[in-house]
Amino acid sequence: MEKKRIQIFDTTLRDGEQVPGCKLNTKEKIKIAKRLEALGVDVIEAGFPTSSPGDYQSVQEICRSVSKTAVCALSRAVEKDIEIAGQALQYAKRPRIHTGIGTSNCHIRYKFNSTPDKIIERAIHAVKYAKRFVEDVEFYAEDAGRTENEFLAKVCENVIKYGATVINIPDTTGFCLPEEYGDKIRFLKENVKGIHKIKLSTHCHNDLGLATANSLSGIMNGAEQVECTINGIGERAGNTSLEEIVMIIKQNSHLNLFTNINTKLISSTSHLVSECTGMRVQANKAIVGINAFSHSSGIHQDGVIKKRETYESINPEDVGIDQSSIVLTARSGRAALAYRCKKLGHFLNKNSLDLVYSIFLKYADEKKEITDRELKTILKKANLNANNKILHTPNNRRINVV
Ligand code: KIV
Ligand code: ZN
Repeated sequence: MEKKRIQIFDTTLRDGEQVPGCKLNTKEKIKIAKRLEALGVDVIEAGFPTSSPGDYQSVQEICRSVSKTAVCALSRAVEKDIEIAGQALQYAKRPRIHTGIGTSNCHIRYKFNSTPDKIIERAIHAVKYAKRFVEDVEFYAEDAGRTENEFLAKVCENVIKYGATVINIPDTTGFCLPEEYGDKIRFLKENVKGIHKIKLSTHCHNDLGLATANSLSGIMNGAEQVECTINGIGERAGNTSLEEIVMIIKQNSHLNLFTNINTKLISSTSHLVSECTGMRVQANKAIVGINAFSHSSGIHQDGVIKKRETYESINPEDVGIDQSSIVLTARSGRAALAYRCKKLGHFLNKNSLDLVYSIFLKYADEKKEITDRELKTILKKANLNANNKILHTPNNRRINVV
């Protein structure tokens, strides 16, 4: 069975940048955009040009800086927004306008004080208007997660008629369960006339920690594009994280899916985004957290030293990390200590290791983690001879007791 390619639409520079406290200047955005292109994303959502002159300029500069990747600009279903997005994209080799409107009852009633029919009219007009500027028009049905499927299907059918090339089904508030979101995508696939002419896209927020699971469910039910961000940054609890969805696809070949992502650049891209945005990645974040490939308990360390796969299902090299790390803490055992000493050039025999271990435990109980520097101090304290053996006094008493 032929594998199906899933397009990666990165919105780190738009939805990701909407996060409080995260502000990127044009130079930083260009740097990130170039890295995203090297990473192999299919589309870079570069910004929301109508929101500020700075964002307009960034989108324009990104268009000049990338060559193969499609560049997308966000707009509301408002002529002025669309016009400005079209202008900002003028230098893009592959421009896309992303326009749309809220489709849930909540948005129609409270945000727009409107009616379902009027929302469809505005959606059609937005797509028709965007088509004046670019061929590639993606339509988003904001709050699709809470939109009734029949109405959503009607909206989709109409925007397809007027030339939308991609339809984004955002779970804007992170409301759906994976099964529910997958059913929504399948419902659209099975009930919308003309659906085969366009790509369906997932855009899931992480309010309940389900963004990645929902995106996965979406693609398993027919969506062809996933919208995501590096490190999962984005409004409130964030978006689907690129590294998670890409690695899920890579690790599960039975899904018969693939992406164009060079996964070996994932770790360095994560660092770049974290550095530029000032948003630290939580230590236990899947794939890119500092602990994602670190082992600190004795049982796990012993297993990983014998065979990495005992406690790791992902090869760290696949995401650009040289090797798993064995962190020395008070929970570590002799195997980990011997391994780390070996890395410092000390090959310890059983007796020497026992001695070093007893000194190590005293240090480790006081510290969170024992660094190489501290380990060198511990080895010095053990006062081993040049062959890493314990020194003895003439009457055979050990002299290097702490
Ligand atoms: O979450 C959302 O609905 C969005 C849209 C603007 C695409 O970010
Ligand atoms: Zn969003």
